[in-house]
Amino acid sequence: MRICRTKAELRAARTDLGLRGARIGLVPTMGYLHDGHLSLIRAARAETDRVIATIFVNPTQFGPTEDLASYPRDTDRDLALLRAENVDAVFLPEPGEMYAEDAETVVETTELAGVLIGALRPGHFRGVATVVTKLFNLTRPDRAYFGQKDYQQLCVIRRMVRDLDIGVEVRGMPTRRECDGLALSSRNVRLTAAARAQAPALYRALLAGQAALEAGRGVAAAQDAIRAALADADLALVRSVDIRDAQSLAQVPDRPDAPVVILLAVAFGDVLLIDNLVATPKRPA
Ligand code: PAF
Repeated sequence: MRICRTKAELRAARTDLGLRGARIGLVPTMGYLHDGHLSLIRAARAETDRVIATIFVNPTQFGPTEDLASYPRDTDRDLALLRAENVDAVFLPEPGEMYAEDAETVVETTELAGVLIGALRPGHFRGVATVVTKLFNLTRPDRAYFGQKDYQQLCVIRRMVRDLDIGVEVRGMPTRRECDGLALSSRNVRLTAAARAQAPALYRALLAGQAALEAGRGVAAAQDAIRAALADADLALVRSVDIRDAQSLAQVPDRPDAPVVILLAVAFGDVLLIDNLVATPKRPA
């Protein structure tokens, strides 16, 4: 596995790996890898010829009061996991390698970046779109792999790729969960034991909302079912519960006639957990 710490090393690795028309799969991550990341790597392995992973805790997608400093990191363990998955190259830049001191160019999906998680975390999706564009430019992948757990992020990246005619196929892969339903996330390690015990309430709430919608009970009733399912988790601060069009993330009427996505953001202390589930509302008879 080639370990690239500079853009020049990554570009050279990309050129070598792409020889004879080999298709390149890119898996961008912020490290502290878990099974969700490994499922993206395995999908890339299965669908492309060469796999490049990146590990970069991107400072520009964190707000000034967010958890950049405490975001979990374990590079040695990550490298061992990537080696075991036969990843061909990994890019591990320092922030100073990624961004020039006077960098001023950004990529932003102007509408999508400001709603939902974007309203809770101003500037977050501008940071994501900008760094993902840079990673695409550096690695010129045929396909890039992202988890559906970060549903809005996936929508932002798809929109950006479409709007800017970036020739990358974006693959969204299913959320991986613990046995009790908690979605895998690098941030889970920062939950206290008591919060970890309550965190599966998110998935139970999503299932309750999905069941309400699929029984034809409408969006308002689904919202009630979701909040009721979260009520017992007394350490949880519910930051947002949204039910949106699954394709566009647009607002929906109480009786939607197309698939919707239920999006939850719940804080346990300073750990913000997000999760989502798609539902196909039952149409009124
Ligand atoms: O999902 C993540 O881990 C990050 O937002 C990403 C896509 C690697 C960009 O920093």
